[in-house]
Amino acid sequence: MSLSFLSECKTKIFKKIDSLLGADDQITKSMRYSALAESKCIRAGLVFASGQLTDHNSELGLVDMATSIELMHTYSLIHDDLPAMDNDDMRRGKASNHVAFNEATAILAGDALQALAFKVIASSQHIQSEQKIEIIQAMSSACGHQGMVLGQQYDLDAEQKKFHDIEEIHTLKTGRLIQVALTMPHLADRSNLTPLSILNELGQKLGLAFQIMDDVLEASSNSQTLGKSNLSDIENSKMTYVSEFGLAESEKRADDLSVWCAEKINTAFDQSKAKDLKDLAHFMVARSH
Ligand code: IPE
Ligand code: IPE
Ligand code: MG
Ligand code: MG
Repeated sequence: MSLSFLSECKTKIFKKIDSLLGADDQITKSMRYSALAESKCIRAGLVFASGQLTDHNSELGLVDMATSIELMHTYSLIHDDLPAMDNDDMRRGKASNHVAFNEATAILAGDALQALAFKVIASSQHIQSEQKIEIIQAMSSACGHQGMVLGQQYDLDAEQKKFHDIEEIHTLKTGRLIQVALTMPHLADRSNLTPLSILNELGQKLGLAFQIMDDVLEASSNSQTLGKSNLSDIENSKMTYVSEFGLAESEKRADDLSVWCAEKINTAFDQSKAKDLKDLAHFMVARSH
């Protein structure tokens, strides 16, 4: 796919994050360290690609939404790497936040990034009030105790042999944020209710496929390519798609989901507006890191 689309998205949101985190104190340095580290910015890309399907949003409104979702995602990664969670010392090609700073600062940086994610939406000059409320509601549902955090709890439970359905874990811990990235630009657009239900279904399937590929890559690639440990799942006795079904079956499930998503994008949307979404959905499963 045209990776230039993702790199343009990244440039826009890094500029915004840079302007939000200007101070030189320890907590701000820690937030910047992770939020501006080398990353794919897939969730930001999804916001822009989905936003292109309608003319409901301004470009600057999409920048605020995309920035917010990447801040939320970065918080989740900092906490995911903590010793009490996955205990990973490498992230985005460098030392994890708690290794570069310390555990307490990493916890606080995650907390503050989450708060900032909501602030970026609430204080935006470029998103209508009604849409802001819907976005905050959708993000808090997607990320909280019935969404991403519940998925993270199930992921940890499985280490203690309290098993949940692997597709449910993946859909919660990873899928819900991806789903909200896709739907966010369409919330409060009353003229456009059908795309919202399609985007919800697309987000659920794409999120699941993305996390299955994350499991596949961890089991088949190396830490240099991934920019993070490729032994974490084994060391933590994680329940993953690969541990449940093996590599071949996992790749097949991700491919099947990817084909479903491509067909849905082909049939549901105006093709002149959906190219970046289609390319990005493909990249999310065909990626090497
Ligand atoms: C990693 O997400 C964590 C998962 C939910 C699989 P990404 O692969 O999108 O990580 P970055 O943002 O590019 O570092
Ligand atoms: C991360 O899942 C999910 C969240 C941060 C919410 P993983 O623990 O499987 O992802 P990596 O391998 O550390 O990136
Ligand atoms: Mg984890
Ligand atoms: Mg992890």
